[in-house]
Amino acid sequence: MQTSPENFRQAMAMFPGAVTVVTTGEGDGRRGMTATAVCSVTDDPPSLLVCINRKTETGVEISRNGRFCVQLLNDRDHALALRFAGATGLHGAEKFEPGRWQTCVLGMPRLEGARAALFLRGHGRA
Ligand SMILES: Cc1cc2nc3c(=O)[nH]c(=O)nc-3n(C[C@H](O)[C@H](O)[C@H](O)COP(=O)(O)O)c2cc1C
Repeated sequence: MQTSPENFRQAMAMFPGAVTVVTTGEGDGRRGMTATAVCSVTDDPPSLLVCINRKTETGVEISRNGRFCVQLLNDRDHALALRFAGATGLHGAEKFEPGRWQTCVLGMPRLEGARAALFLRGHGRA
């Protein structure tokens, strides 16, 4: 018998993993989402595998502009991770609270104080 999505989510909530926020876009077009389906693939060339649901606002914008930033969060960033997962009801550019967000050289939102921030060009696969 196949397990339900609810049971699967409960089990995955026990599965420790690095929490990131993936951001893209500029100005009012900024988009961002919490993502844990992220892992390094090779260091030469530096490559990261990031699984993004194409139906999310962030996924739509990445498909349009082809680049994104992955920021690795700190323990203190729990509230930020919830906001970018949509748990607070904020959408789109509203998720970027003033103060901690800078603009990187490529124009995308970059989190001040993140453990690491990686700027990537996407090579999408269905
Ligand atoms: C802990 C956690 C991890 C998540 N990881 C991913 C992920 O790796 N890929 C993904 O597509 N969605 C993931 N999500 C769901 C997105 O964060 C969620 O759909 C978000 O609201 C999309 O925002 P957007 O529509 O504004 O882009 C995760 C959610 C949580 C709570």
